[in-house]
Formats: sequence, structure tokens, C-alpha cells
Amino acid sequence: MRIVFDLGGSVVMPKEGADPEKIKKYANTFKKIKDDGHEVAIVVGGGKTARDYIEIGRKLGANESFCDELGIMATRMNAMILITALEDYSIKKVPTSFEEAELILNLGKIPVMGGTHPAHTTDAVAASLAEFINADLLVIGTNVDGVYNKDPNKYSDAEKYKKMSVKELVELSLSSSLKAGSSSVVDPLAAKIIERAKLKVAVVRGTPEELLNVSKGIINGTIIEG
Ligand code: UTP
Repeated sequence: MRIVFDLGGSVVMPKEGADPEKIKKYANTFKKIKDDGHEVAIVVGGGKTARDYIEIGRKLGANESFCDELGIMATRMNAMILITALEDYSIKKVPTSFEEAELILNLGKIPVMGGTHPAHTTDAVAASLAEFINADLLVIGTNVDGVYNKDPNKYSDAEKYKKMSVKELVELSLSSSLKAGSSSVVDPLAAKIIERAKLKVAVVRGTPEELLNVSKGIINGTIIEG
């Protein structure tokens, strides 16, 4: 299978700071998935680094577009860290376009991307990359174990979807993005790209174990299809 992994930045750069052992564990998981015969491409988010830089930029009067550029640089630094841990399974270059990522994939290596352009997030980048390279599966590794009807970190009665259609995903991401302070597991632009590209998506908790499970067809999260 050709698999795109969309990893939140907190995986590489959590609030408490980066842990090289944890990053190595992720890298070893991706190496294993590749050794099992899959093609792997990764998109990493900005995590704490992005938030810190964006906050400083804002305080200094940067406009939102320039703050996005700060965020993109942070995602690319996180990508460089993961590339370092992947050793010769990747190459020492963060692709800045889908064409570059596809070239790296076709060289038999693992491309690790960050952001691309202002005004969206790495969720949309991962969905676009999956569309561009005709991925068989987009895996969204997040801090919850699937898609819920409302934020499970805030509401104890939130219910998890085992399966959902792409149409339901688009509706859910649009309705949750309209409510102030609520966050959706997939941002609305990413959901629209998933819809038009007819991507198969697995949303799982972004631990090395669960990412490996998905590559073996064990999905302890939400499957989005059709
Ligand atoms: P993230 O994709 O990490 O955003 O990009 P996020 O929603 O905060 O994700 P988590 O918390 O890591 O899961 C960080 C910031 O970088 C900018 C945006 O400002 C985004 O909020 N960015 C990122 C872009 O402008 N374009 C991109 O392609 C990617």
C-alpha cells in the first residue's frame, strides 16, 4: 500500500519538549512499515514550536499570513528532526512541493513534509499529498482515538464513530469549525480534499503502536470511506 501519515506536531514537539527516544520510536515504526513492503510518506505539524513562534510574531505585529510562514518554518524543522531519525530511509531534504515528495517516494525513500502555503494546516497538506500521489490510505494520527460527534476532551458524553462516510466528515468538520472554541479532528479544507479525491482515511490515536496497527489493517479508530 501507498500510505500518507498525517502526524500532529505534538508528536515531535510536545508541550514538555522533544524526547529523542520517542522520536526514534516513531522513526523505527515507519522503517518497519516500509520494511513490511509499504510505501510511506509523512506530513508533520508544527506543535509547540509553531504556536510559540506564531504568538511572538503576533505580539510583534506580524499579520496572519506572516504568522503562517512562521508556522510553516516550524513544521519544516519538525520534519527535519524526523528525517534525522529516519536515517537512510529518508533523504536530507524537506520537500516543499508534492512533485518533490513524489520524486523522493519514487527513489524508494520516505518523504517527510511540513507545510506548504499560508492559510491552511498540515491536515490539508497531507490530504493534498495523498491525492497527488494516489495514496491508497491517508492515516491521520491525532491526540484522540478517532472521530467523535463532539470534542471528547471537553464532553464526557461524546460518541465515537467506528465508520463514517466522507459526506458526514465534511458536515461534521464544517459544523464544528463554526462553533467558537471547538476543534474538529480534521479541518474543513482537508475534509473537502478528502471528499473530492475519494480518499480512504483512518483516524487513529497517533502512537507508534496504532500507526503500525493501521498498516496491518487493524484500525482502532474511525474509518472514513465512500
Ligand atoms: P499545523 O498543521 O501544525 O497546525 O501548522 P495545527 O492545526 O496547529 O496542528 P497541530 O496542533 O500541530 O496538530 C501550524 C501552523 O502553521 C501554519 C498555520 O498557521 C498553522 O496553524 N501553516 C501550516 C500554514 O500556514 N500552511 C501550511 O501548509 C501548514
